[in-house]
Amino acid sequence: MKKITLVTALCCCAAGLAAQKAASVVGIIPQPVACTAQAGEFVVTPAAKIVLAADNEPMRRAVAVLNDLFKTAAGFTLPIAAGDPSGAGVIYCALNPKLGGGEAYKLSVGKNQVRIEAASPNGIFFATQTLRQLLPPQIESPQRAWGVKWAIPCVEISDAPAYKYRGLHLDVGRHFINKQDVMRYIDLLAYHKLNTFHWHLTEDQGWRIEIKKYPRLTTIGQRRSREQTGERDALGRQRRVWKDEQHSGFYTQDDIREVLAYAEKRFVNVIPEIELPGHAKAALAAYPELSCTGGPFEVDGEWGVREDIFCTRDTVFTFLENVLTEVAALFPSKYIHIGGDEAPKVRWERCHACQQRIKQEGLKDEHELQSYFITRMEKFLLTKGKNIIGWDEILEGGLAPNATVMSWRGEDGGIAAARQHHDVIMTPNSHMYLDYYQANPKTEPYTIGGYLPLWNVYSYNPTPAVLKPDEAKHILGVQGNVWTEYMPDFASVMYMTYPRAAAVAEVGWTPLPQKDYASFEQRLEIIKKRYEVMGVPYRK
Ligand code: ACM
Ligand code: ZN
Repeated sequence: MKKITLVTALCCCAAGLAAQKAASVVGIIPQPVACTAQAGEFVVTPAAKIVLAADNEPMRRAVAVLNDLFKTAAGFTLPIAAGDPSGAGVIYCALNPKLGGGEAYKLSVGKNQVRIEAASPNGIFFATQTLRQLLPPQIESPQRAWGVKWAIPCVEISDAPAYKYRGLHLDVGRHFINKQDVMRYIDLLAYHKLNTFHWHLTEDQGWRIEIKKYPRLTTIGQRRSREQTGERDALGRQRRVWKDEQHSGFYTQDDIREVLAYAEKRFVNVIPEIELPGHAKAALAAYPELSCTGGPFEVDGEWGVREDIFCTRDTVFTFLENVLTEVAALFPSKYIHIGGDEAPKVRWERCHACQQRIKQEGLKDEHELQSYFITRMEKFLLTKGKNIIGWDEILEGGLAPNATVMSWRGEDGGIAAARQHHDVIMTPNSHMYLDYYQANPKTEPYTIGGYLPLWNVYSYNPTPAVLKPDEAKHILGVQGNVWTEYMPDFASVMYMTYPRAAAVAEVGWTPLPQKDYASFEQRLEIIKKRYEVMGVPYRK
């Protein structure tokens, strides 16, 4: 009884004892803007059906993931038809432009009908993800779950995200993650109403995307012969050690299309990152003529920042333009991330071609040369209909005119960019680096360092108070970053990412006044049961 009362508090304004009982199973993450539990439940049986006010591809897509879950776990799918919301056992979905905001939705679960309204199919999809969290956890079962009553507690929900960009990043350069696991990552991201997957595809330690014009990027650039790892000695002290093991992997363009189709079904935008001018050692190992010195180079096994970066001679720009042409054709995203971080200038300082470039272009120094590099890539990508995102180092030497800045070294870069009226995505390492320790390092798997417990992620407010309203509107949203130096496989990625990504989701979705860490922790206990059915090895 105590438990019921406790959990009831999670969904606001429960009325009456029966309602309390119903609300006992309500634990939605991210917390909806308004959620009222009511008495009763809607039971999904094989006789239930989905009725779309307008029958078209995006609307069918919006309900497809929910229906796939029923097919696997319940052994039936709901027929989809167009028409009126009459009759019992109907899940009715309709667009309502008055709801405003692309991702807003209203969900009303009554005993006889479920009604979903949204301004766009994206909102309809998010409503189905709420239903997914309201159904018994067995809906996530990868096999048929027998003897389950597929009951949804009656609720009234009115919901919309606080920020339009809500992302999760994954570095597949340091450790390759296969496409099936990338799809699991995307599904879980959508489950938490995150809407962007930032796919960090190239690194010093591995180039992971097939580029038809440059096959050596993947024949050579995908493979390294050893890597750094870490261990603890008998006294609990951490030290780095070498692991002499080959590591490789890449995605063919067909693999990427498959992942993109999977993401599209979940209304997730996938932003590819092709790192330049730094973090390019794998590309330089494949094509050393793209460097200032000519190499030779190895695909790195050591983590950190490398001095060998792309040169600024014309042939490098031709190469990058050819690469980005293939990337732009593959990814429907309006944005392409071009990296821009951690590019030491020592090679450029000593390179004849780079110094010539500085003179020819009338640049002051190597920082302006970096700005020239990024601006030139931006101009090229604009011809392909794409905008760039770069890490906050792209502020140095002057921002490219249309660039969106990802603020990672704290918030200063984001604040500076917003003040210049550039769009910003907040991903400060102080709150959004999910590769940092979640608890006492002595009892945790080895990581890159840092300390970022769940409550600290949750406490983040993406809009710095120092910004004026016309600057603050450039804060598009927030993202959690998952750098995989010390995550050798998908299980370790999941351990580091969850449950902290659930906190990222609530930071991005739930309005500040409604955020409540105690409530979040209680709802997390409910969602953890779902992670278990899904087989997600989250940190317990
Ligand atoms: C970064 O963490 N180097 C963007
Ligand atoms: Zn050079």
